Amino acid sequence: MTTDNADIANKPAPQRPLAVMLFGAPGSGKGTTGKMLAKLTGWPHLATGDLLREQIARKTPLGLEMQSILASGKLAPDDLVSRMVWDRLGWPDCENGFLLDGFPRTIPQAEGLAHWFQGRLFRPVLIHLWVEYNEILRRLTGRRICPACGAIYHLESSPTRAAGVCDNDGTALTIRADDQEEVILQRLRTYQSQTWPVAETLRTHGVLVEAIDCGEMDPESVADRIVWRLDRIAGSIAKN
Ligand code: AP5
Ligand code: MG
Repeated sequence: MTTDNADIANKPAPQRPLAVMLFGAPGSGKGTTGKMLAKLTGWPHLATGDLLREQIARKTPLGLEMQSILASGKLAPDDLVSRMVWDRLGWPDCENGFLLDGFPRTIPQAEGLAHWFQGRLFRPVLIHLWVEYNEILRRLTGRRICPACGAIYHLESSPTRAAGVCDNDGTALTIRADDQEEVILQRLRTYQSQTWPVAETLRTHGVLVEAIDCGEMDPESVADRIVWRLDRIAGSIAKN
């Protein structure tokens, strides 16, 4: 969907599909909220962490290369992640809107995305999920995931019906390799030094930045709040 910039400026906002970036610290709820929003809107939920973990699980050459990087809490190389994203954004299911989760998370990725938006109709919106530090630690140390369907649980706040197995398919739940305490602390340091400045960079490129203080909101309320904000920006976005 490329067109020239004068055409874009003349399009009324509701006719421009939304490109939503879910932004926030590790454990802020990007994945949980992204899955809910994908159901509500019908837009694809593109999580770079999930794409990388999929490569690791399939033991592809890329996955073998990425395994130690993810386990250390540092970031994968910009060019590699960006290529993965540009490729995925070219799929037809992204044309009516999409949800990015975990991208961009460095200044070069943000500059690359701002460039990608040029000449495209999308209206970019960054949703900053803001959660305070102790709640982030509580969420990450209690997280459990289903290795089969990717469902995200929490021992206290989103428990499964039967202990230790996924509600959807009965698979035994696992702990993410990077949810060990030392790695969590490294991921938070990486977030502070490399990712935090990204919101401001995108704002200077004309991206709308919306912050939601969601440390004390349950996941459904967070998703509802985002839908409400997006509706105000673009008209009704829910598919039903
Ligand atoms: P990624 O998978 O993106 O990890 P992250 O940013 O550290 O974020 P998380 O997935 O840990 O947290 P989340 O915000 O999704 O929270 P969740 O919904 O699960 O990236 C992993 C790694 O991949 C990176 O470290 C890096 O190496 C690499 N990578 C990825 N993208 C990259 C990129 N662009 N460039 C370079 N490298 C990249 O929720 C957490 C817990 O909280 C769950 O238990 C959940 O049930 C609970 N919870 C969620 N919402 C709520 C709520 N509202 N109330 C109570 N509990 C809640
Ligand atoms: Mg996630």
